[in-house]
Amino acid sequence: MLWQIRGSNMKNTKRWMACMLAVVLLVSSSACGKKDKDKTEPTKNADTTIGATDDANTSASTDGNTAGGRFNGPKYSSDYESEIKYKRIYTEDFEDEEHGFYSRGEETTALTADTTYNNSKFSLHSSGRAKNWNGPKINLSEDLQPGKRYQVSAYVMLAEAAEFAVKIDCKVEQNGSNYIDVGSIECEPGVWTPIVGTVMIGNDTTKAELYFETDYNNMYEEALCDLYVDNVELFELATESKVPLIDSLHKTYENYFKLGVAVSALELEDPTRVAIIQKHFNSITMGNEMKPENLLNRSVSASDIEKYNTEPAINFENIDEALTFAKENNMAMRGHTLVWHSQTPDWFFKEGYSNTADAPNVSSEVMLARMESYIKQVLEYCAKNYPGIVVCWDVVNEAINTPDKIDGGLRDSLWYQVAGPDFIEKAFEYARKYAEPGTKLFYNDYNCFEKVKLNAIYNLCDKLNQKGIIDGIGVQSHLKVNSPSMGDYENCIVTLGKLGLEINVTELDIDQTLNTEEGQMEMARKYRRIFNMYANVMDAKQANITNVTIWGLSDENSWLNDGVLKYPLLFDEYLQPKPAFWGVAQDESISLFAN
Ligand code: XIL
Repeated sequence: MLWQIRGSNMKNTKRWMACMLAVVLLVSSSACGKKDKDKTEPTKNADTTIGATDDANTSASTDGNTAGGRFNGPKYSSDYESEIKYKRIYTEDFEDEEHGFYSRGEETTALTADTTYNNSKFSLHSSGRAKNWNGPKINLSEDLQPGKRYQVSAYVMLAEAAEFAVKIDCKVEQNGSNYIDVGSIECEPGVWTPIVGTVMIGNDTTKAELYFETDYNNMYEEALCDLYVDNVELFELATESKVPLIDSLHKTYENYFKLGVAVSALELEDPTRVAIIQKHFNSITMGNEMKPENLLNRSVSASDIEKYNTEPAINFENIDEALTFAKENNMAMRGHTLVWHSQTPDWFFKEGYSNTADAPNVSSEVMLARMESYIKQVLEYCAKNYPGIVVCWDVVNEAINTPDKIDGGLRDSLWYQVAGPDFIEKAFEYARKYAEPGTKLFYNDYNCFEKVKLNAIYNLCDKLNQKGIIDGIGVQSHLKVNSPSMGDYENCIVTLGKLGLEINVTELDIDQTLNTEEGQMEMARKYRRIFNMYANVMDAKQANITNVTIWGLSDENSWLNDGVLKYPLLFDEYLQPKPAFWGVAQDESISLFAN
């Protein structure tokens, strides 16, 4: 196996131990004192230094890229080591009055002994919450340093007899207020639930406050129930991380497709991450920033309904930075996404852009007009200000859901209900009308390898293709280590390839909870086999894959971290390449066959 061959087992084992330790610390979260600003955790374990000290590079550097000379990527090298510290900087167990948390609104924030995590004396109790955003907040401006990444964890509990998501957010002042999603977890009523997330604040931040709330999109009154918080902890994840001195990963596939990565605007502010993105990828997708919920501006739209009823107001400043980054770094940008049932606010479908749950929806005519205007404004903005940068758009995302039993397998979404069954075709028509010539229009969906769904996606795209309004199909590819089978996955790509449209693998990740050596090697094998399959399919001219995008740069930022930490990506939280990286690099020491 890769790391055994190279005699670097020791240091990697250490790295794993550090990761596991961090997880154990977060999960067991033993109460131990107050703010430890600028102090390393006193116990030996919490301040783990991982250095490149324990072995020389004994690597019998195998030439991993001899498979027919097709792949030109990086060869293994240990020239990427750096010193890493894992540092606890803040703990609050609420065992006395000096905790620094206060109410965000009119609600009451007080210690209680009624219910606590792990039978401690007190927890923090937020009651009388009139809004979802009411909850305990603390100013951590002195603890959170710009450009560094922090892991925040706590235990939370909701009182009501219903399941709702509790969120940790960070409000930052940077020439105005911004809100960063840190973490979110569905809570069963009355059950203490661990919540974990990471946060990094930008350089121009003057104030940073962490707070707990229920999801602001939630319209149910029960979500305004009492909220309890205990054992809040903050870890600085890495002090310094060097960029690997290895060759570019995207070169491996220079004869095949672009290699992309999903990023956040925040990651683009971190020089270490930027250097890795620039080096290893030649395409980016914004994980969230270009979605309707981040572009639509409700307060302006609702302020003058005559003016905005069919022409919603849009905030473009949120995407300028990312588009500029793509332009300056000569990277293709995949536009994600225009028409989607998720991350599109309900008020967008309502009369007067109302945000009350029972406000009536608009007519199909008005909704299609809103859709046309939204698509027009977004595409024209990109074309005018960043010509040639957004090379393609996921025009419609996830519109097939066969269990809903609608003709054609359509999802019973608000788009379907309000705009009507033609909304997909309309979206593509509008996109074609307003897109810069040459911009490719994609239909994007997940679990495309499921046979019934595959059939529905094939038929939908076939229909759009016959009208000449689609150029490609996005196969999201959120995979698991053991499913789908390689056969089913390949069949999906080959089947869709038959339409003659471009294929993009738009959101590849492999759900892996195991951060053991074998767990990560298993995942690395799967990555290698998958990429090998992409190349084979292209060599056989069975599909024209033009882009493969990994859904996230490094594990700690994966969207799969939902209470439980996952390890699905190519770089670890210290930004070091993982076995999966070498799998994608087609390194021969990662078996193509055994699994
Ligand atoms: C995910 C993002 O990665 C998360 O940060 C966000 O909280 C939810 O959405 N299919 C898609 C992507 O098309 O847009 C989703 O991205 C993942 C599933």
